[in-house]
Amino acid sequence: MLRTDDGQVIRLSDYRPPAFRIRHVEMRIALHDGHADVETTIHAERAEGADPAEPLVLDGDALRLVSLHLDDAAVDPARFEVSPDRLTVRDLPAVPFALRISTRLEPEKNTELMGLYRSNGIWCTQCEAEGFRRITYFLDRPDVLATYRVRLEADRDAAPILLSNGNPGESGDLGGGRHFAVWDDPHPKPSYLFALVAGRLDVLEDTFRTASGRPVDLAIYTEPGLADRAAYAMDALKRSMVWDERRFGCEYDLDVFNIVAISDFNMGAMENKGLNVFNHKYVLLAPDTATDGDYAGVETVIAHEYFHNWTGNRITCRDWFQLCLKEGLTVYRDQEFSADERSRTVKRIASVHGLKAQQFPEDQGPLQHPVRPTQYREINNFYTATIYEKGAELVRMLATILGENGFRAGMDLYFARHDGDAATIEDFLRCFADATDTDLQQFALWYEQAGTPDLEVRESYADGRLTVSLRQNLAKGAAGTGTEPMHIPIRFGLVGGNGADMDANPLAGAAEVEGDVIHLVTAEADVVFAGLSERPRLSILRDFSAPVTLRHEQSREDRLALARLDPNGFGRWRALTDLLGEALRDASVAGSSAPLDPRLVEALVDCAAEEALEPALRAQMIAVPGESEIGRLVGTNVDPEAVHGAREDAIRCVAKAGERAFRAVRDALARPGETFGADAASAGRRALRNALLMFLSAADEDPASTFEAFLAADNMTDRMAAATILAHRFPDAPETAEALDRFYRAFEADPLVLDKWFTLQATVPHPATLDTVRELARHPKFTLANPNRARALIGGFATGNQRVFHRADGEGYRWTAERLEELDRLNPQTAARLATSFRSWRSFEPGRREQARLALADLAGRPGLSRDLSDILDRTLT
Ligand code: TRP
Ligand code: ZN
Repeated sequence: MLRTDDGQVIRLSDYRPPAFRIRHVEMRIALHDGHADVETTIHAERAEGADPAEPLVLDGDALRLVSLHLDDAAVDPARFEVSPDRLTVRDLPAVPFALRISTRLEPEKNTELMGLYRSNGIWCTQCEAEGFRRITYFLDRPDVLATYRVRLEADRDAAPILLSNGNPGESGDLGGGRHFAVWDDPHPKPSYLFALVAGRLDVLEDTFRTASGRPVDLAIYTEPGLADRAAYAMDALKRSMVWDERRFGCEYDLDVFNIVAISDFNMGAMENKGLNVFNHKYVLLAPDTATDGDYAGVETVIAHEYFHNWTGNRITCRDWFQLCLKEGLTVYRDQEFSADERSRTVKRIASVHGLKAQQFPEDQGPLQHPVRPTQYREINNFYTATIYEKGAELVRMLATILGENGFRAGMDLYFARHDGDAATIEDFLRCFADATDTDLQQFALWYEQAGTPDLEVRESYADGRLTVSLRQNLAKGAAGTGTEPMHIPIRFGLVGGNGADMDANPLAGAAEVEGDVIHLVTAEADVVFAGLSERPRLSILRDFSAPVTLRHEQSREDRLALARLDPNGFGRWRALTDLLGEALRDASVAGSSAPLDPRLVEALVDCAAEEALEPALRAQMIAVPGESEIGRLVGTNVDPEAVHGAREDAIRCVAKAGERAFRAVRDALARPGETFGADAASAGRRALRNALLMFLSAADEDPASTFEAFLAADNMTDRMAAATILAHRFPDAPETAEALDRFYRAFEADPLVLDKWFTLQATVPHPATLDTVRELARHPKFTLANPNRARALIGGFATGNQRVFHRADGEGYRWTAERLEELDRLNPQTAARLATSFRSWRSFEPGRREQARLALADLAGRPGLSRDLSDILDRTLT
């Protein structure tokens, strides 16, 4: 592999518009076994006002130039300079010109899965962020927008299906077993949205008619024999198309919309114009092979990529520093879609849980960066929880601050004003400011200042007056960005003893109160509510209206009361998780098992049985925080053994107290003989039943009933839940070995299910798991070449197994570091992403901290590491 890293840092402040414009691109791509010939004609011209002496400098990456023509004449070698990563052409004419570039590629050797590669024989591409430069020399930057006409040629036998962006054009036979197809994309797009797919593929077809009557042919392509597993994805696609028309007035804009499911893919999916390419994990589902979580994931990712057609494609990013412009906004849109399609409260809790588990540790550790970064070494490493998830939170805050109508007016103006543009965060915010006549200067700090602000809340009550004292504080972290007070929208309610919200009459003060939102814009402010008939329980930061760490000095009595009677479901969930999280944190620090507060245990048990609550919400309410979550609450000198012990004690305590009630609820929820439904209500019942099964197995201290549940399972959700409980709680039981063996034999031919089998074993919190993962890495079905498989084992272990990854002897760290070094030689992007599992190493006790540092430093010192992996390791170590 060619490594061309010079350690260079790219800075936002260095942004310059391109010196040349590329208006149209024509490509002829001939696919053969072993190589591909690419002929690209760039119709370009010097940008207005650009220096006439400036050469055209095109990006490349590991490219081989075959020939170069300017307006049909071979270019004199004295006029250009070429290397694998750059093509410089001098003395270009003042008038528009056509530059024809021929390159030869070897897709079979492309293990990085960026550019053109082959996955199970299928030719496919991944160009975001900088993969197009691995196909041809180009101005490979998102502010260069061109129309494309692509002609694909291949053996009809090897590739009966030939796909690219836009609408299909001419196609036909070439003789000698070869054929061709032309695709025309009339919408100017940046090169990162280019795609082609060619191969033997099965298809599931459907049609859609847009609100204004345009017919669209929909197709989902899969590897042979799997198209029937795309039915739910197709349904989710059609629902997404309807939703985007209704909610945002966004209609689809081509005659066809194609999706292809690919086995080897670095990320979840990619929004290429008219030709979305997906990790097959986010397309293929069947009740017997996919869990309810998989169904929800498919729905979300299908919607996400489809929504990019407007937020990302029609309006793209000026440069990669603006990545959250398309990603944060599109995550917000897919979250809203899921909330509307399923349950708003359940979806919000799941999003907040994910934000705290993924983004908070990133924002509070060495990989901290602002939602709009100002510099990077490797852009692939900035597809982070901060860009995506925190980026979505910022859009959500805008919606909270401006209200539903104001937010929609801003979005309408954004689409009207910037359609066809490569835009910036400033452009985006200006639309909301202009549409609602609001000053968003202070709000813009959220994009610049990294870190999670603390929000301190104190309350005092006397004579019908509640005074709420608010204080925000942002500590300087690894990114070293500013710490100015920001605009924090705080949704709240004053809950009366009858469980209803009381009327809140705020007195004029430092913080403005608008309906149920307090706008905190200063470092400190008091809000006073007067004329109250009783002392209310303050339900603050409802729906997690801002991504902050809440430090609320609230009595245990009030929180226990809110856990039962807050009319806001999110508020009830938060009261419970916080109480449980704090108890687990304290027990972990003390290293002793102080029993849980019986009132908390009783509240959890009662919640599980509360029939008026939807089962999915009950399952979330009784969930015990995971070991890494507890570690984050502990914060410093974490001892994962103590955390594990404290969590186990808590599970047993709740299980014993709730055993009878849990069994009754679980039995009442059973629907024997009912056929499988993937709908949210059925999934919610399964979630609650399986959450209860976990407690019951802990109460039993016997694997028998869980093994029975495993054998009885008629869907993957129940089978996986039972197998996980067996492996995690009874690692040495013969029933566990039997279940894992049956699981393997039933699904060894199904790669997506086999991934689950690898992960399941890698996450077992038992010291012997280190030997298990060593063996699994030598299993004939294990390969580092497939990212899903690599993530299943390495990621399962390093992010899903706190106890063993963080073994005191450092063996967990060393095993992981060795795998990362191997993986980096094949696929730097995936290696770098997995390496982030070390990011919280400084929060552990000194012995482990030193072991982690040694393993990281040793890996960082290895010769020939990729820019992707070195960047993560260097930042993690400093
Ligand atoms: N834009 C893609 C998304 O949001 C992300 C993505 C897919 C990606 N493949 C990638 C990013 C490869 C970097 C590299 O869904
Ligand atoms: Zn995206």
